[in-house]
Amino acid sequence: MWKPVARVLLFVFMVLLLLFSASDFHNPFSGIESRAKSNLHLLIFNSSLHINHLFHHFHAHLFRKVVRISASAASSNLEGVNMTEDSYIRKPLVEEFTFPANSAPFNSCHASTIVEVDKGHFLVAYFGGTSEGAPDVKIWLQRFKDGRWESPVIVDEEPNVPMWNPVLFKLHSNELLIFYKIGQEVQKWSGCMKRSYDKGVTWLEREQLPPGILGPSKNKPILLEHGHLLCGSSVESWNSWGSWMEVVTTDSGRSWRKYGPIYIQNETLSVIQPVPFQTAKGKLRVLMRSFEGIDRVCISESDDGGKTWGFAVPTELPNPNSGIDGVKLSDGRLLLAYNTISRGVLKIALSSDDGDSWHDAMTLEDNLAMEFSYPAVIQASDGNVHITYTYNRTQIKAS
Ligand SMILES: *[C@@H]1O[C@H](CO)[C@@H](O)[C@H](O)[C@H]1NC(C)=O
Ligand SMILES: *[C@@H]1O[C@H](CO)[C@@H](O)[C@H](O)[C@H]1NC(C)=O
Ligand SMILES: *[C@@H]1O[C@H](CO)[C@@H](O)[C@H](O)[C@H]1NC(C)=O
Ligand SMILES: *[C@@H]1O[C@H](CO)[C@@H](O)[C@H](O)[C@H]1NC(C)=O
Repeated sequence: MWKPVARVLLFVFMVLLLLFSASDFHNPFSGIESRAKSNLHLLIFNSSLHINHLFHHFHAHLFRKVVRISASAASSNLEGVNMTEDSYIRKPLVEEFTFPANSAPFNSCHASTIVEVDKGHFLVAYFGGTSEGAPDVKIWLQRFKDGRWESPVIVDEEPNVPMWNPVLFKLHSNELLIFYKIGQEVQKWSGCMKRSYDKGVTWLEREQLPPGILGPSKNKPILLEHGHLLCGSSVESWNSWGSWMEVVTTDSGRSWRKYGPIYIQNETLSVIQPVPFQTAKGKLRVLMRSFEGIDRVCISESDDGGKTWGFAVPTELPNPNSGIDGVKLSDGRLLLAYNTISRGVLKIALSSDDGDSWHDAMTLEDNLAMEFSYPAVIQASDGNVHITYTYNRTQIKAS
Protein backbone atom coordinates (compact mmCIF):
# COMPACT_ATOMS: atom_id res chain seq x y z
CA MET A 1 0.00 0.00 0.00
CA TRP A 2 2.68 2.51 1.01
CA LYS A 3 5.02 1.49 -1.82
CA PRO A 4 3.26 3.58 -4.53
CA VAL A 5 3.03 6.49 -2.08
CA ALA A 6 6.75 6.24 -1.42
CA ARG A 7 7.43 6.18 -5.17
CA VAL A 8 5.36 9.35 -5.70
CA LEU A 9 7.13 11.10 -2.81
CA LEU A 10 10.50 10.04 -4.16
CA PHE A 11 9.56 11.32 -7.61
CA VAL A 12 8.45 14.71 -6.21
CA PHE A 13 11.66 14.89 -4.20
CA MET A 14 13.79 14.14 -7.26
CA VAL A 15 11.93 16.77 -9.36
CA LEU A 16 12.41 19.40 -6.66
CA LEU A 17 16.04 18.43 -6.43
CA LEU A 18 16.52 18.76 -10.18
CA LEU A 19 14.73 22.12 -10.28
CA PHE A 20 16.85 23.36 -7.43
CA SER A 21 20.17 22.35 -8.93
CA ALA A 22 19.18 23.44 -12.45
CA SER A 23 18.08 26.93 -11.37
CA ASP A 24 21.19 27.19 -9.31
CA PHE A 25 23.37 26.18 -12.21
CA HIS A 26 21.92 28.82 -14.52
CA ASN A 27 22.18 31.67 -12.10
CA PRO A 28 25.67 33.14 -12.32
CA PHE A 29 24.94 35.35 -9.34
CA SER A 30 23.93 32.61 -6.99
CA GLY A 31 25.93 32.83 -3.81
CA ILE A 32 28.52 30.45 -2.47
CA GLU A 33 26.03 29.08 0.00
CA SER A 34 23.47 27.90 -2.51
CA ARG A 35 26.04 26.75 -5.01
CA ALA A 36 27.56 24.63 -2.30
CA LYS A 37 24.14 23.31 -1.41
CA SER A 38 23.37 22.03 -4.87
CA ASN A 39 26.47 19.90 -4.71
CA LEU A 40 26.60 18.95 -1.11
CA HIS A 41 23.10 18.47 0.03
CA LEU A 42 22.08 16.00 -2.64
CA LEU A 43 21.04 13.37 -0.20
CA ILE A 44 19.29 10.39 -1.69
CA PHE A 45 18.02 7.82 0.74
CA ASN A 46 16.69 4.66 -0.72
CA SER A 47 17.10 2.45 2.32
CA SER A 48 13.69 3.35 3.71
CA LEU A 49 12.12 1.81 0.63
CA HIS A 50 13.71 -1.43 1.67
CA ILE A 51 11.61 -1.67 4.77
CA ASN A 52 9.07 -3.75 2.92
CA HIS A 53 11.72 -6.43 2.51
CA LEU A 54 12.36 -6.66 6.23
CA PHE A 55 10.27 -9.69 6.97
CA HIS A 56 11.12 -11.75 3.94
CA HIS A 57 13.34 -14.79 4.24
CA PHE A 58 15.01 -15.61 7.54
CA HIS A 59 16.02 -13.13 10.18
CA ALA A 60 19.33 -11.43 9.69
CA HIS A 61 20.41 -8.44 11.70
CA LEU A 62 23.37 -7.46 9.70
CA PHE A 63 23.61 -5.66 6.49
CA ARG A 64 25.88 -3.27 4.82
CA LYS A 65 25.70 0.33 3.84
CA VAL A 66 27.42 2.20 1.05
CA VAL A 67 27.98 5.89 1.14
CA ARG A 68 29.06 7.98 -1.79
CA ILE A 69 30.34 11.39 -1.01
CA SER A 70 31.04 14.17 -3.40
CA ALA A 71 34.49 15.35 -2.50
CA SER A 72 36.66 16.81 -5.22
CA ALA A 73 33.77 16.73 -7.69
CA ALA A 74 32.28 19.63 -5.77
CA SER A 75 35.48 21.57 -5.64
CA SER A 76 35.46 22.36 -9.35
CA ASN A 77 32.20 24.25 -8.83
CA LEU A 78 33.73 26.27 -6.06
CA GLU A 79 36.66 27.49 -8.06
CA GLY A 80 38.03 30.79 -6.83
CA VAL A 81 35.99 30.65 -3.68
CA ASN A 82 37.89 30.63 -0.44
CA MET A 83 36.00 28.07 1.54
CA THR A 84 37.69 26.63 4.56
CA GLU A 85 39.18 23.31 3.70
CA ASP A 86 36.60 21.12 5.39
CA SER A 87 33.55 22.93 4.15
CA TYR A 88 32.95 21.20 0.89
CA ILE A 89 32.00 17.81 2.13
CA ARG A 90 29.03 17.93 4.41
CA LYS A 91 26.68 15.10 3.68
CA PRO A 92 26.81 11.96 1.57
CA LEU A 93 25.43 12.27 -1.96
CA VAL A 94 23.91 8.83 -1.80
CA GLU A 95 23.48 6.39 1.04
CA GLU A 96 22.28 2.90 0.35
CA PHE A 97 22.52 -0.69 1.40
CA THR A 98 24.11 -3.12 -1.01
CA PHE A 99 21.30 -5.58 -0.31
CA PRO A 100 17.96 -5.20 1.45
CA ALA A 101 17.89 -6.28 5.09
CA ASN A 102 17.37 -10.02 5.54
CA SER A 103 17.69 -10.78 1.84
CA ALA A 104 21.18 -12.29 1.86
CA PRO A 105 22.01 -15.98 2.29
CA PHE A 106 24.07 -15.28 5.45
CA ASN A 107 23.31 -13.88 8.91
CA SER A 108 26.38 -11.82 9.37
CA CYS A 109 28.85 -9.96 7.19
CA HIS A 110 31.87 -7.81 7.85
CA ALA A 111 35.08 -6.32 6.45
CA SER A 112 34.02 -4.91 3.10
CA THR A 113 36.30 -3.79 0.28
CA ILE A 114 35.42 -1.77 -2.82
CA VAL A 115 36.99 -1.27 -6.24
CA GLU A 116 35.95 0.72 -9.31
CA VAL A 117 35.87 -1.52 -12.37
CA ASP A 118 34.77 1.14 -14.89
CA LYS A 119 33.02 4.46 -14.55
CA GLY A 120 29.88 3.87 -12.46
CA HIS A 121 30.70 0.17 -12.13
CA PHE A 122 31.97 -1.11 -8.79
CA LEU A 123 32.62 -4.38 -7.00
CA VAL A 124 32.24 -4.79 -3.26
CA ALA A 125 33.36 -7.92 -1.41
CA TYR A 126 33.16 -8.94 2.26
CA PHE A 127 33.09 -12.07 4.38
CA GLY A 128 29.73 -13.53 5.33
CA GLY A 129 28.34 -16.53 7.18
CA THR A 130 26.72 -17.50 10.47
CA SER A 131 29.06 -15.22 12.40
CA GLU A 132 32.67 -14.05 12.19
CA GLY A 133 34.98 -17.06 12.40
CA ALA A 134 32.19 -19.63 11.89
CA PRO A 135 33.20 -22.56 9.63
CA ASP A 136 30.69 -21.49 6.95
CA VAL A 137 32.12 -18.00 6.41
CA LYS A 138 32.83 -17.42 2.73
CA ILE A 139 33.98 -14.50 0.57
CA TRP A 140 31.01 -12.81 -1.13
CA LEU A 141 30.99 -10.32 -3.98
CA GLN A 142 28.42 -7.80 -5.20
CA ARG A 143 28.42 -5.74 -8.35
CA PHE A 144 27.06 -2.20 -8.67
CA LYS A 145 26.30 -1.51 -12.32
CA ASP A 146 23.73 0.53 -14.23
CA GLY A 147 22.66 2.13 -10.99
CA ARG A 148 21.77 -1.03 -9.12
CA TRP A 149 23.29 -3.61 -6.82
CA GLU A 150 23.34 -7.22 -7.97
CA SER A 151 22.84 -10.03 -5.43
CA PRO A 152 25.84 -11.41 -3.53
CA VAL A 153 27.73 -14.29 -5.18
CA ILE A 154 30.43 -16.52 -3.72
CA VAL A 155 34.03 -15.83 -4.73
CA ASP A 156 35.58 -18.57 -2.63
CA GLU A 157 34.77 -21.02 0.15
CA GLU A 158 36.59 -23.78 2.02
CA PRO A 159 34.66 -26.56 3.76
CA ASN A 160 34.74 -26.04 7.54
CA VAL A 161 37.32 -23.25 7.47
CA PRO A 162 36.31 -19.58 7.70
CA MET A 163 37.57 -16.87 5.38
CA TRP A 164 38.47 -13.32 6.37
CA ASN A 165 38.94 -9.68 5.27
CA PRO A 166 38.91 -9.63 1.46
CA VAL A 167 40.73 -6.79 -0.33
CA LEU A 168 39.98 -5.92 -3.95
CA PHE A 169 42.46 -4.16 -6.20
CA LYS A 170 42.58 -3.31 -9.91
CA LEU A 171 45.88 -3.20 -11.76
CA HIS A 172 46.49 -0.83 -14.71
CA SER A 173 46.12 -3.84 -17.00
CA ASN A 174 42.50 -4.16 -15.75
CA GLU A 175 43.40 -7.44 -14.08
CA LEU A 176 41.45 -7.60 -10.81
CA LEU A 177 42.96 -9.10 -7.68
CA ILE A 178 41.13 -10.22 -4.56
CA PHE A 179 43.23 -11.03 -1.50
CA TYR A 180 41.81 -12.76 1.57
CA LYS A 181 42.80 -14.95 4.48
CA ILE A 182 41.77 -18.52 5.32
CA GLY A 183 42.13 -20.10 8.77
CA GLN A 184 40.17 -21.28 11.81
CA GLU A 185 41.22 -18.19 13.75
CA VAL A 186 43.27 -15.05 13.18
CA GLN A 187 46.49 -16.65 14.50
CA LYS A 188 46.14 -19.43 11.91
CA TRP A 189 45.63 -17.24 8.87
CA SER A 190 47.17 -18.15 5.51
CA GLY A 191 47.16 -15.53 2.76
CA CYS A 192 45.33 -16.34 -0.48
CA MET A 193 44.25 -14.56 -3.63
CA LYS A 194 42.32 -14.92 -6.87
CA ARG A 195 42.52 -13.06 -10.19
CA SER A 196 39.90 -12.04 -12.70
CA TYR A 197 40.41 -10.92 -16.28
CA ASP A 198 36.73 -10.26 -17.00
CA LYS A 199 35.81 -7.53 -14.50
CA GLY A 200 35.12 -9.98 -11.70
CA VAL A 201 32.59 -12.16 -13.54
CA THR A 202 34.81 -15.22 -13.26
CA TRP A 203 37.81 -15.78 -11.00
CA LEU A 204 40.73 -18.12 -11.63
CA GLU A 205 41.67 -20.87 -9.17
CA ARG A 206 42.74 -19.80 -5.69
CA GLU A 207 46.47 -19.13 -5.25
CA GLN A 208 48.02 -19.50 -1.83
CA LEU A 209 50.58 -16.82 -0.94
CA PRO A 210 54.06 -17.90 0.26
CA PRO A 211 54.37 -18.97 3.95
CA GLY A 212 54.36 -15.93 6.25
CA ILE A 213 52.83 -13.67 3.61
CA LEU A 214 49.24 -12.76 4.45
CA GLY A 215 48.62 -10.09 1.81
CA PRO A 216 46.84 -6.84 2.72
CA SER A 217 45.21 -7.46 6.10
CA LYS A 218 42.21 -5.18 5.60
CA ASN A 219 42.95 -2.15 3.45
CA LYS A 220 43.69 -1.73 -0.25
CA PRO A 221 47.31 -1.70 -1.38
CA ILE A 222 48.92 1.14 -3.33
CA LEU A 223 50.70 0.73 -6.63
CA LEU A 224 53.96 2.67 -6.91
CA GLU A 225 55.23 4.16 -10.15
CA HIS A 226 57.88 1.49 -10.66
CA GLY A 227 55.21 -1.20 -10.40
CA HIS A 228 55.66 -2.39 -6.83
CA LEU A 229 52.40 -3.11 -5.05
CA LEU A 230 52.56 -2.12 -1.36
CA CYS A 231 50.29 -4.20 0.86
CA GLY A 232 49.76 -3.15 4.47
CA SER A 233 49.81 -6.38 6.42
CA SER A 234 49.74 -7.26 10.10
CA VAL A 235 50.16 -9.99 12.68
CA GLU A 236 47.80 -10.68 15.58
CA SER A 237 49.38 -13.52 17.54
CA TRP A 238 49.63 -14.19 21.28
CA ASN A 239 50.67 -10.99 23.04
CA SER A 240 52.00 -9.66 19.75
CA TRP A 241 50.35 -7.16 17.44
CA GLY A 242 52.27 -5.31 14.78
CA SER A 243 52.29 -4.36 11.13
CA TRP A 244 54.41 -5.30 8.11
CA MET A 245 54.77 -3.96 4.62
CA GLU A 246 54.47 -6.77 2.11
CA VAL A 247 55.60 -5.80 -1.35
CA VAL A 248 54.71 -7.58 -4.55
CA THR A 249 57.68 -6.92 -6.76
CA THR A 250 56.83 -8.65 -10.03
CA ASP A 251 54.13 -10.65 -11.75
CA SER A 252 51.20 -8.95 -10.01
CA GLY A 253 51.21 -11.19 -6.99
CA ARG A 254 53.73 -13.96 -7.53
CA SER A 255 56.90 -12.55 -6.00
CA TRP A 256 56.85 -11.12 -2.48
CA ARG A 257 59.13 -9.27 -0.04
CA LYS A 258 58.27 -8.35 3.52
CA TYR A 259 59.53 -5.33 5.48
CA GLY A 260 59.05 -4.43 9.12
CA PRO A 261 57.90 -4.95 11.76
CA ILE A 262 56.15 -1.63 12.30
CA TYR A 263 55.18 -1.21 15.94
CA ILE A 264 55.13 1.15 18.91
CA GLN A 265 58.39 1.12 20.83
CA ASN A 266 58.13 -1.03 23.98
CA GLU A 267 54.57 -2.17 23.24
CA THR A 268 53.95 -5.85 22.51
CA LEU A 269 50.35 -5.24 21.46
CA SER A 270 50.37 -2.17 19.24
CA VAL A 271 49.27 -1.54 15.66
CA ILE A 272 47.57 -3.48 12.86
CA GLN A 273 45.77 -3.11 9.51
CA PRO A 274 47.91 -0.38 7.90
CA VAL A 275 46.61 2.13 5.36
CA PRO A 276 49.60 2.93 3.09
CA PHE A 277 49.95 6.21 1.19
CA GLN A 278 52.57 8.39 -0.46
CA THR A 279 53.28 11.84 0.92
CA ALA A 280 53.76 15.06 -1.01
CA LYS A 281 57.45 14.84 -0.14
CA GLY A 282 57.71 11.40 -1.75
CA LYS A 283 57.87 9.39 1.46
CA LEU A 284 55.70 6.45 2.39
CA ARG A 285 53.48 6.47 5.43
CA VAL A 286 50.98 4.14 7.05
CA LEU A 287 48.06 4.93 9.32
CA MET A 288 47.11 2.09 11.66
CA ARG A 289 44.51 0.85 14.09
CA SER A 290 45.83 0.39 17.63
CA PHE A 291 45.24 -1.93 20.57
CA GLU A 292 43.06 -1.02 23.56
CA GLY A 293 44.73 1.45 25.89
CA ILE A 294 46.57 3.20 23.06
CA ASP A 295 43.27 4.55 21.78
CA ARG A 296 44.72 6.57 18.87
CA VAL A 297 45.17 6.09 15.16
CA CYS A 298 48.94 5.62 14.82
CA ILE A 299 51.33 6.60 12.04
CA SER A 300 54.75 5.45 10.82
CA GLU A 301 57.02 6.68 8.02
CA SER A 302 59.58 5.20 5.66
CA ASP A 303 62.28 7.29 3.94
CA ASP A 304 63.56 4.50 1.72
CA GLY A 305 60.61 3.36 -0.33
CA GLY A 306 59.13 1.10 2.36
CA LYS A 307 62.17 -0.98 3.36
CA THR A 308 62.69 0.49 6.84
CA TRP A 309 60.03 2.02 9.03
CA GLY A 310 60.12 4.28 12.05
CA PHE A 311 58.38 3.37 15.27
CA ALA A 312 54.65 4.00 15.12
CA VAL A 313 53.44 7.04 17.07
CA PRO A 314 49.92 8.16 17.96
CA THR A 315 48.15 10.84 15.91
CA GLU A 316 45.54 13.15 17.37
CA LEU A 317 42.71 10.96 15.98
CA PRO A 318 40.98 8.60 18.42
CA ASN A 319 40.69 4.87 17.73
CA PRO A 320 38.72 2.37 19.83
CA ASN A 321 40.68 -0.67 18.56
CA SER A 322 38.67 -0.61 15.35
CA GLY A 323 39.44 -0.78 11.64
CA ILE A 324 40.13 2.39 9.67
CA ASP A 325 40.67 3.16 5.98
CA GLY A 326 41.73 6.19 4.04
CA VAL A 327 42.70 7.47 0.65
CA LYS A 328 44.96 10.16 -0.71
CA LEU A 329 42.59 12.37 -2.75
CA SER A 330 43.56 13.67 -6.18
CA ASP A 331 43.81 17.18 -4.69
CA GLY A 332 46.55 15.98 -2.34
CA ARG A 333 44.53 15.78 0.83
CA LEU A 334 44.28 12.63 2.89
CA LEU A 335 40.83 11.38 3.85
CA LEU A 336 40.34 8.91 6.69
CA ALA A 337 37.21 7.09 7.86
CA TYR A 338 37.46 5.94 11.48
CA ASN A 339 35.50 5.19 14.64
CA THR A 340 35.90 7.56 17.56
CA ILE A 341 34.71 6.54 21.04
CA SER A 342 33.18 3.28 19.90
CA ARG A 343 32.09 1.46 16.78
CA GLY A 344 28.82 3.38 17.10
CA VAL A 345 30.39 6.60 15.82
CA LEU A 346 31.92 6.66 12.34
CA LYS A 347 33.56 9.85 11.15
CA ILE A 348 35.61 11.26 8.33
CA ALA A 349 38.66 13.43 8.91
CA LEU A 350 40.81 15.27 6.39
CA SER A 351 44.48 16.15 6.50
CA SER A 352 46.29 18.62 4.27
CA ASP A 353 49.73 17.69 5.58
CA ASP A 354 49.80 13.94 5.02
CA GLY A 355 48.54 13.01 8.47
CA ASP A 356 50.46 15.43 10.70
CA SER A 357 47.27 17.32 11.57
CA TRP A 358 43.60 16.59 11.02
CA HIS A 359 40.26 18.28 10.97
CA ASP A 360 36.82 16.84 11.28
CA ALA A 361 34.95 16.68 7.97
CA MET A 362 31.80 14.65 8.54
CA THR A 363 29.99 12.31 10.89
CA LEU A 364 28.65 9.36 8.92
CA GLU A 365 26.98 7.56 11.80
CA ASP A 366 26.34 8.24 15.46
CA ASN A 367 24.34 5.69 17.42
CA LEU A 368 26.06 3.99 20.33
CA ALA A 369 23.54 1.14 20.30
CA MET A 370 24.74 0.02 16.87
CA GLU A 371 27.96 -0.88 15.04
CA PHE A 372 29.31 0.96 11.99
CA SER A 373 32.76 -0.37 11.44
CA TYR A 374 35.54 -1.44 9.10
CA PRO A 375 35.23 1.30 6.48
CA ALA A 376 36.72 0.82 3.01
CA VAL A 377 37.42 4.03 1.10
CA ILE A 378 38.25 4.75 -2.55
CA GLN A 379 38.16 7.81 -4.78
CA ALA A 380 36.55 6.92 -8.11
CA SER A 381 37.67 8.25 -11.50
CA ASP A 382 34.97 10.97 -11.39
CA GLY A 383 36.41 12.28 -8.13
CA ASN A 384 33.63 10.98 -5.90
CA VAL A 385 34.66 9.22 -2.73
CA HIS A 386 32.98 5.89 -2.04
CA ILE A 387 32.93 4.35 1.42
CA THR A 388 31.51 0.98 2.39
CA TYR A 389 31.27 -0.20 5.97
CA THR A 390 29.71 -2.83 8.16
CA TYR A 391 26.27 -1.81 9.30
CA ASN A 392 25.36 -3.04 12.79
CA ARG A 393 27.22 -6.24 13.34
CA THR A 394 28.37 -7.22 16.82
CA GLN A 395 32.10 -7.73 16.64
CA ILE A 396 33.68 -10.94 17.94
CA LYS A 397 37.34 -10.33 17.36
CA ALA A 398 39.75 -13.30 17.76
CA SER A 399 42.96 -11.63 18.77
C1 LIG B 1 15.03 1.92 -4.39
O1 LIG B 1 15.01 0.57 -4.01
C2 LIG B 1 13.96 -0.17 -4.62
C3 LIG B 1 13.93 -1.54 -3.98
O2 LIG B 1 15.21 -2.14 -3.97
C4 LIG B 1 14.21 -0.18 -6.12
O3 LIG B 1 13.19 -0.91 -6.77
C5 LIG B 1 14.21 1.24 -6.64
O4 LIG B 1 14.53 1.28 -8.01
C6 LIG B 1 15.22 2.09 -5.89
N1 LIG B 1 15.09 3.48 -6.27
C7 LIG B 1 16.13 4.27 -6.46
C8 LIG B 1 15.80 5.69 -6.82
O5 LIG B 1 17.27 3.90 -6.37
C1 LIG C 1 40.78 31.62 3.35
O1 LIG C 1 40.01 31.72 4.52
C2 LIG C 1 40.66 31.32 5.69
C3 LIG C 1 39.68 31.34 6.84
O2 LIG C 1 38.91 32.52 6.82
C4 LIG C 1 41.89 32.20 5.89
O3 LIG C 1 42.59 31.81 7.07
C5 LIG C 1 42.80 32.07 4.69
O4 LIG C 1 43.90 32.92 4.84
C6 LIG C 1 42.07 32.39 3.42
N1 LIG C 1 42.93 32.07 2.29
C7 LIG C 1 43.06 32.87 1.22
C8 LIG C 1 43.96 32.40 0.14
O5 LIG C 1 42.46 33.94 1.14
C1 LIG D 1 61.65 1.88 25.74
O1 LIG D 1 62.40 1.14 26.68
C2 LIG D 1 63.76 1.56 26.77
C3 LIG D 1 64.49 0.60 27.70
O2 LIG D 1 63.76 0.42 28.90
C4 LIG D 1 63.82 3.01 27.25
O3 LIG D 1 65.17 3.45 27.30
C5 LIG D 1 63.05 3.88 26.27
O4 LIG D 1 62.99 5.22 26.76
C6 LIG D 1 61.62 3.36 26.10
N1 LIG D 1 60.98 4.12 25.07
C7 LIG D 1 59.71 4.54 25.14
C8 LIG D 1 59.20 5.32 23.97
O5 LIG D 1 58.98 4.27 26.07
C1 LIG E 1 22.03 -3.53 16.16
O1 LIG E 1 22.66 -4.68 16.66
C2 LIG E 1 22.42 -4.89 18.04
C3 LIG E 1 23.28 -6.06 18.47
O2 LIG E 1 23.02 -7.18 17.68
C4 LIG E 1 20.94 -5.13 18.27
O3 LIG E 1 20.68 -5.30 19.64
C5 LIG E 1 20.16 -3.93 17.77
O4 LIG E 1 18.78 -4.18 17.86
C6 LIG E 1 20.52 -3.63 16.32
N1 LIG E 1 19.88 -2.39 15.94
C7 LIG E 1 19.28 -2.22 14.77
C8 LIG E 1 18.62 -0.90 14.54
O5 LIG E 1 19.28 -3.08 13.90
